[in-house]
Amino acid sequence: MPDQAAILILNGPNLNMLGVREPTVYGSETLGDIEESCKERANHLGLGVDFRQSNHEGELIDAIQEARENHKGIIINPAGYTHTSVAIRDALLISEVPIIEVHLSNVFQREEFRHHSYVTPVSQGVICGLGPIGYLLALEAMSKILEGSD
Ligand code: DQA
Repeated sequence: MPDQAAILILNGPNLNMLGVREPTVYGSETLGDIEESCKERANHLGLGVDFRQSNHEGELIDAIQEARENHKGIIINPAGYTHTSVAIRDALLISEVPIIEVHLSNVFQREEFRHHSYVTPVSQGVICGLGPIGYLLALEAMSKILEGSD
């Protein structure tokens, strides 16, 4: 655990395939590239980052449950689980830390089943459609939210 206030950045299924996955939708950056730029931005903001990805709903829920004790906030791209997972939404509510939802693509320009999110109602805010920059904007916003809660 880093000394600085650590933010959990959690990525759901198939995001490990960024770079090769539908590049016209998701761009060419890999999840490793995004992790690197998040760590750099967090460092400027005086925040630590715990950057994780899982393809498994239960593992994502375990990570969210840990955040209650170990993290100051959660930035989450739940990927496909955004549109299906009551269990992830329930876990986020238990965490009692600020939550920001991020999507690389503009889900509202896409299929109708992507227009509904189980996570949005329990999130402080949502950033979508701006590609990897969305993660950096979420870190900036999280930093402000945490300053405000001191
Ligand atoms: C996504 C959008 C989701 O609809 C999709 O299932 C993903 C990625 C995004 O970042 O744009 O896997 O969360």
